[in-house]
Amino acid sequence: MNRAQLTTAILLIGMLALSVGNVAIAKKKKLNGQDLFKEYCKPCHDVDSENGEYTPMTLIQDQWERFFDEKYAETHESVTLTGHDGSITDEITPEMLKAIKKFAVDHAADSESPMTCG
Ligand code: HEC
Repeated sequence: MNRAQLTTAILLIGMLALSVGNVAIAKKKKLNGQDLFKEYCKPCHDVDSENGEYTPMTLIQDQWERFFDEKYAETHESVTLTGHDGSITDEITPEMLKAIKKFAVDHAADSESPMTCG
């Protein structure tokens, strides 16, 4: 093997190891609402976002309940997130959404521990 081939091989192995690791983590860990919020909501709702800044403590629990139960599907069915294929309502599975909702409600402005998504 020459040097270029060796470098390529090492890179490939590295990438493979990373992706296997990711899959393993995704399978093993329970869905983490905070991580999901960070990955799927924050990109469009960060500070100064034109869509409005939303972290769990932006709203009170009732508002989050209402958002997820009544508004989310309607307001988000046609928005796509950079780096993901479909609209976010397609990308976020019901289980993922449940975890995100729980995180938002558990850390809403009127919860015991208000939080941003970090
Ligand atoms: C690809 C961008 C994008 C992503 C990802 C996204 N949103 Fe939105 N969000 C929007 C847009 C656009 C609006 C509509 C803004 C408007 O109508 O002014 C919106 C509106 C909202 C609103 C206000 C709805 C209302 O009318 O009261 C909330 C709350 C919200 N998003 C929360 C979330 C949460 C939670 C997530 C993650 C599950 C999320 N968003 C993911 C783009 C996004």
